[in-house]
This record gives sequence, structure tokens and C-alpha cells, in this order.
Amino acid sequence: MGKLEGKVALVTGSGRGIGKAVAQLLASEGAAIVVNDLGTNIGGDDPDQSIAQSVVDEIKAAGGEASANTDSITDYNLAEGMVQQAINGYGKLDIVVNVAGILRDRMIFNMSEEEWDAVSAVHLNGTFNICKWAAVHFRDRRESGRIINFSSTSAWGSPGQPNYGAAKYGILGFTAVLANSLDRYGVTSNAILPYAATRMIDSTPRAMKVKEETGKLPSELAGGTEGDPANVAPMVAYLATDDAAMINGHFFGVRGHTVSLYSHWELAGVFQSDRRWTVEEMLELYPDTWAKTIKQPEAQEVARSERPLRATSLWQLDESAWKEIADGVKLWEREAYYGAKQG
Ligand SMILES: NC(=O)c1ccc[n+]([C@@H]2O[C@H](COP(=O)([O-])OP(=O)(O)OC[C@H]3O[C@@H](n4cnc5c(N)ncnc54)[C@H](O)[C@@H]3O)[C@@H](O)[C@H]2O)c1
Repeated sequence: MGKLEGKVALVTGSGRGIGKAVAQLLASEGAAIVVNDLGTNIGGDDPDQSIAQSVVDEIKAAGGEASANTDSITDYNLAEGMVQQAINGYGKLDIVVNVAGILRDRMIFNMSEEEWDAVSAVHLNGTFNICKWAAVHFRDRRESGRIINFSSTSAWGSPGQPNYGAAKYGILGFTAVLANSLDRYGVTSNAILPYAATRMIDSTPRAMKVKEETGKLPSELAGGTEGDPANVAPMVAYLATDDAAMINGHFFGVRGHTVSLYSHWELAGVFQSDRRWTVEEMLELYPDTWAKTIKQPEAQEVARSERPLRATSLWQLDESAWKEIADGVKLWEREAYYGAKQG
């Protein structure tokens, strides 16, 4: 028996890429799926209604249950319709996974208001629109509910993505708020910061290099590799189960066969005085203290040779605190890492 037998899920952006892999896995675990996808190009234009339907056809051919929705998550009222489609079709909604996304990358000085608005509208507003209507339903049922939102490590400061990075950081804050406001109704809310070689990755400069070298784009080479979008789906499916009721308000990196748990914002240092600070004191104090010890948060690309005071990325992890916990399976825990470094 599947782990999600009898559950109903709405997965936005599930016509392609990671969302499609998530919808397929949730369906194979027994959930009925509303497959939402506007079928746009990477920038959010040229909608295509066949994209969502093709995933529904694949799920049904594999013995699962699904129905298509081709509306945009940017529309508040249409988002209510998506939640209603699940309730009308399957009697309820248990799980929402907000995967839909677009890109309009530019450096800040070249970014237009329209590019900013379009990306915010899909990622931040779209995630809000779906969660708002799902939350109303979850509160009415007072039983349970699962919200899984998609963020990105671009939120840590990817230089060419001011709109996307801001929206993805906003999604983390929003997820944390939902975790603390819906827990009384049995609802959990968590975020995924994924990596998968989808068409989003095809749009990066690195992908052009891959194409030059291999004649193919990363998405065409992804099947069965670390970049396979299907690698992201199991953690999402796990968070959707009843067994994951104790996981609330967390952010998980999922890449290939690696699942990372990010900490929430933690204190990295404190200045305290028994009087108001003067600017002169700050001028003296800061260069001698935090300027030496606290590093600027890294963007995605991290120099592998550096040994930072805090690991913000997988590549920075010190080998010393990895623990082998099963055949081919290893665990890294922050406390063990810093304990080992101090010892
Ligand atoms: N691929 C990665 O490595 C990566 C990294 C970090 C974050 N993410 C995030 O993961 C999610 C999935 O990314 P992906 O790589 O699978 O992208 P993708 O482009 O393959 O799929 C996104 C889907 O969203 C749909 N969509 C776009 N606008 C929509 C709208 N307004 N309403 C409904 N559907 C809409 C598109 O039609 C598309 O099918 C996104 O939120 C993305 O920002 C991806």
C-alpha cells in the first residue's frame, strides 16, 4: 500500500521538471493529484494547455488518479478554483506543493519593474494565493494539512537574480509564518531548496558550456544522474505523509542523493553596552571584531578551498564530521562538525 493512499494533493507547476516528478511520485504512493501547470516558457509567456494534461495522462496510464488544471497561480481567484477543483473532484485537499516558477534574470541595474513584478507574482504571490485558500480548507477540517513550498539557494545572494532571490527568500519567511500559525490545525509547512537539471538550469551560462562540450543541454543529460528531477521527489513525498507530522517550519536542500537541513537564522554575534552606542565606538569596534570573524553570506558558487567559519553550502562541509550510518549512507550534523573543530 502506498504511503499516501487516500490523500489528495495539488501540485503547482507539475507539468514539467521537478513538479512533474513530484506529482508522479505522490500519485504512485496513492494520492489523487490536481496537476496544475500554465505551460509557459521559462520567462512565464506562451501558455500551453497540453502540458498539464500530458502529465495527467501519464499518471493515469500508470494506474494513478489525476486531473489537469491550466490556470495561472498568479490569479488569486483562480487559485481558489484550484483548491476547489480538488475538493469537488476528490472530496478534500490534504497536500499542497508549490513548485511553479519562472525566471527573468538580470543584474539589478538592468532590471525593469515588469521583470521584478512578473517573478514576484509567480513565486511569492502565487505561493501565497495557493496557501491562502488551502489554509482556509485546512482550518475548516481541523484534521491535518501539508504545505511544501519551493525556495532556492539563490536566496543567499545570487547576483543576477534580484527578483528571484528576493521572492525565494520571501517564501522562506512565509513558510515559517505558516508553520507557526497553522500548527494548531494539524498543518505543517516546510520548504525545499532543490537542485535539478531542468530547463531552468538550461538557461544558465554553465549550461551553454555543457552544450558546447557535449552537444546536449543539462536537462537532456539529466536522466539517471545527480541532476534527475526525480531525485527531489522522495523528500517531498515524505514531508507529505502523516508520519511527518513532527516536521514543521524547516528548510531542506535536496540535490541528487543528498538531503540537507538548513538552520533558521541564528545569532552569529552580539554587541551589548550599558549605554547608547556612539558612531565612533562602532567605527572602532566593528573592524576589530565581526569584520574579522563574520563572512559575507555566500552566493551559490563557493570557493572549495575556503574553510569558512560557518558552512552555508554543501561544498564547504569539512570531511571530519561525516558519520557513516549505513552502507553507502552518511550523515553530517552541525553540532558534531563544530564540536570536532573545537576539539
Ligand atoms: N531546477 C533547479 O535546480 C532549481 C533550483 C532552485 C529552485 N528551483 C525551483 O524549483 C521549482 C521547479 O523548478 P523547475 O526547474 O522544475 O522549473 P520548470 O521550468 O521545469 O517548471 C516550472 C513549471 O512551472 C510552470 N509555471 C510557470 N508559471 C506558472 C503559473 N503562473 N502558474 C502555473 N504554472 C506555472 C511552468 O509552465 C513549468 O512547467 C521552481 O519554483 C524553481 O524556482 C529549481
